[in-house]
Amino acid sequence: MKIAILPGDGIGPEITAEAVKVLNALDLKFEMETAPVGGAAYEASGHPLPPATLKLAKDADAVLFGAVGDWKYDTLDRPLRPEQAILGLRKELGLFANFRPAICYEQLTHASSLKPELVAGLDILIIRELTGDIYFGQPRGRRTAVDGHFPGSEEAFDTMRYSRPEIERIAHVAFQAAQKRSKKVTSVDKANVLETFQFWKDVVTEVGQQYPDVQLDHMYVDNAAMQLVKEPKKFDVVVTGNMFGDILSDEASMLTGSIGMLPSASLNDQKQGLYEPSHGSAPDIAGQGVANPLATILSAAMMLRFSLNQPEAADRIETAVKAVLAQGLRTPDIYSAGTTKVGTREMGEAVLKALK
Ligand code: IPM
Ligand code: MN
Repeated sequence: MKIAILPGDGIGPEITAEAVKVLNALDLKFEMETAPVGGAAYEASGHPLPPATLKLAKDADAVLFGAVGDWKYDTLDRPLRPEQAILGLRKELGLFANFRPAICYEQLTHASSLKPELVAGLDILIIRELTGDIYFGQPRGRRTAVDGHFPGSEEAFDTMRYSRPEIERIAHVAFQAAQKRSKKVTSVDKANVLETFQFWKDVVTEVGQQYPDVQLDHMYVDNAAMQLVKEPKKFDVVVTGNMFGDILSDEASMLTGSIGMLPSASLNDQKQGLYEPSHGSAPDIAGQGVANPLATILSAAMMLRFSLNQPEAADRIETAVKAVLAQGLRTPDIYSAGTTKVGTREMGEAVLKALK
């Protein structure tokens, strides 16, 4: 089992280090190799996704990714910005299916900004299409407008697009995931305004006919954003495009208490996957040893389950995380009165102890 470890920027190295310790404690045979990515790689070699890093990722069974980005790179040309590393990996590895579960652990019911009764027992799965949509659509750029409200002025544009096979394959992923859960899929679109998302809705509906045991409903993205905070437990599997999925998954993360708790998996059609916390590089707290490593540790558990065929080891990690929460240990992002505040390393150590 070959794992590429790409720690990245900001809190990335701190949180990945804890996840690596947990993996090493499992008594499984991993071949782990680390490579720079994002701003760290730009500093070292002038490119956020150096060819050697990309090759390491491609040759691995799975990639464990920390986070990339820092404000100090905001003025670089777009191809050199840290974010291009994660976008490039998604594209080059064909990681079209992004799983972002939002689970509210019993012990964190009170850490959510919503009323406890709204989030207690919450367990939803956002499935975000990850290699299409306006993120990757061409053409894009800047030019002089020839029409629109201000012809002759400078303008910028992006292209929102989805092909039938792209929608079909992510729809299959969503319906199959729902079959293993409560058999309900909500497809989120903006069909009332956008051609791309009328097509999305039509194709998802067609694919849904192959899954008569799964209940499918459709929701406009603005309404979905509202329903997520009004009555989140109404959702089970949510499937949506790249941009809406980006936004809704951040929103859903706060239902669980902290974005610092949310793992994610990005898979291609060979079950090769990239696993990363749903949060970013948090440069404001980097190097302070206070970041929550649990999202990354839980991402490692997803990796064991989805790409490395080690479901028992995944269960062990998840059980250990719950045990640590039950002990009352909290990083600052999930801290509340009556619990014990700990740092990144103490949290990692506690998970290790609970594993044994
Ligand atoms: C995410 C991030 C990325 C995205 C950025 C860093 C490119 O926000 O994984 O959700 O927009 O997809
Ligand atoms: Mn995001």
